[in-house]
Amino acid sequence: MEIVNMNQLTKQQINQAAKILSDSLPLGWATLEAALAEIDERLVPENTMLAAMEDDLVIGWGGILEPQYNGNVFELHPLAVRADKRNQGVGSALVTALEDAAKAQGGLTLYLGADDEQEGGETSLANTDLYNNLPDQLRDFRPGTHQSAFYFKLGFKIVGVMPDANGIGKPDIILAKKLVD
Ligand SMILES: CC(C)(COP(=O)(O)OP(=O)(O)OC[C@H]1O[C@@H](n2cnc3c(N)ncnc32)[C@H](O)[C@@H]1OP(=O)(O)O)[C@@H](O)C(=O)NCCC(=O)NCCS
Repeated sequence: MEIVNMNQLTKQQINQAAKILSDSLPLGWATLEAALAEIDERLVPENTMLAAMEDDLVIGWGGILEPQYNGNVFELHPLAVRADKRNQGVGSALVTALEDAAKAQGGLTLYLGADDEQEGGETSLANTDLYNNLPDQLRDFRPGTHQSAFYFKLGFKIVGVMPDANGIGKPDIILAKKLVD
């Protein structure tokens, strides 16, 4: 596997990336067209978009967006790995490369919003009153099947929640990682 900048991908490879996004996160990008529009919008010089390649095929991709807070904070958005290539280190390699890109631009914090939006909820923060004793709820957090467990393994911590971000009882979970010692 190698990691390349997405601005060097062919149209066919961009289509592969779009298919991975709509297959992986259908609640965010329900169609291939929506995923293609997302890539088109994100593939600008202010952002860094990287793809994991195997045999000239895109097997995963992700990006960091134009920095916020005077260049201190970068958002990781989006991230998706082809379903048959998961649990083989591709997602970790992409996040590490994106962390390096944020650090190289002087970033201090990398963050992302990980929606808990499946019907029924995946984490212990779904379908609860997040205005009631949030510190205890964060201390007792259980990820269930949610991707937050993946980010914990990479050193991210929960730094916030946005209640009802995706409808009642469906929060966005904000995870962040310190980029400097
Ligand atoms: C989340 C995602 C990007 C992870 O990519 P991946 O290539 O499977 O991740 P890796 O193989 O690098 O996994 C690293 C570690 O995290 C673990 N992990 C990965 N996904 C996990 C999950 N959903 N829950 C718990 N642990 C998970 C792996 O088992 C591995 O553990 P190990 O180091 O003990 O072996 C991938 O599952 C995906 O594309 N999911 C759908 C889209 C998505 O949720 N994107 C993130 C939106 S915020």
